[in-house]
Amino acid sequence: MTAYFNGRFMDKDEVRISPDDRGFLFSDSLYEVIRYYPGLLFRPEAHIRRLNHGADHLKFACRDFSHLVPVARDLIRQNHLFDQDALVYIQVTRGPAPRNHAFPDPEPEPTVYMCVSSFDPAGKDRQRKTGINAITVPDIRWVRCDMKTTGLTANVLASQQAAEKKAGEAIFVRDGVLMEGTHSNFMAVLDNTVITAPLSNYILGGITRETVLDLCRDLDIRVFQEPVYENRIHLASELLITGTTTEIIPIVTLNTKPVGKGTPGPVAKAIQAAFSSRIQQLQKQHPWFSSMKKGFI
Ligand code: PDD
Repeated sequence: MTAYFNGRFMDKDEVRISPDDRGFLFSDSLYEVIRYYPGLLFRPEAHIRRLNHGADHLKFACRDFSHLVPVARDLIRQNHLFDQDALVYIQVTRGPAPRNHAFPDPEPEPTVYMCVSSFDPAGKDRQRKTGINAITVPDIRWVRCDMKTTGLTANVLASQQAAEKKAGEAIFVRDGVLMEGTHSNFMAVLDNTVITAPLSNYILGGITRETVLDLCRDLDIRVFQEPVYENRIHLASELLITGTTTEIIPIVTLNTKPVGKGTPGPVAKAIQAAFSSRIQQLQKQHPWFSSMKKGFI
């Protein structure tokens, strides 16, 4: 596979990251995962905006990564993935420097790495139809979850707890409020209204979350961006998670208790259908799609 590393395209196996890299030593580092549907890179500007937000708050030497959008498309083309489902992974770190907690002086050039991989949506498609089991776990993460840093130890541990309980996701609970999953945002349906934690430093502003809330407006589904309280969760008729690889997956049991009827509900199904049509519509509008159909790429 061809990857992109510090301004150059090279074989992924040739990439060499210094053991002094602050991403390796301190997780002083940000990442993004962008979904590629055949012919369509999904909302890359939104992902780059979030990356820039993190780089700004972490005071990285580079705070504008918009030049990476054409690089992502180039990588897809170079790896012959343009007619497939794929994922783009981007990671930027403060760069290599002798180990010292405070920012290095002089500042190193940030390390910039990008790779692509083909993505088989079959597993997620199945989960979208059947729904998943989920568990709740205490939110032991730090309080800047709005930045997509690679410091994911709490997410890794919670995800493993879920796996050991045969659950597909763990939902973090902070002060009695269900915040988000280990790799997804979380929504509840109460009285035909979608309720999801408001944007704050306690959750990641998901690109899929934003798209889903927009689709709810089109579908005339009422949305409240308000805390979802643990002590009211039994009243929810539906629960669901959203994310780049997840798209929209219903939760059918929470901590082994059935949610609503214990099957994917009508609101989740309506949002899933609207999301699929949005993707198809965007695919058709994208110049790559028509070139791909004609066999030009
Ligand atoms: N995770 N919340 C957390 C903690 C996440 O890690 C993610 C995404 C989301 C959903 O965001 P988006 O809709 O922009 O993907 C919410 C990525 C996919 C991952 O870690 O692989």
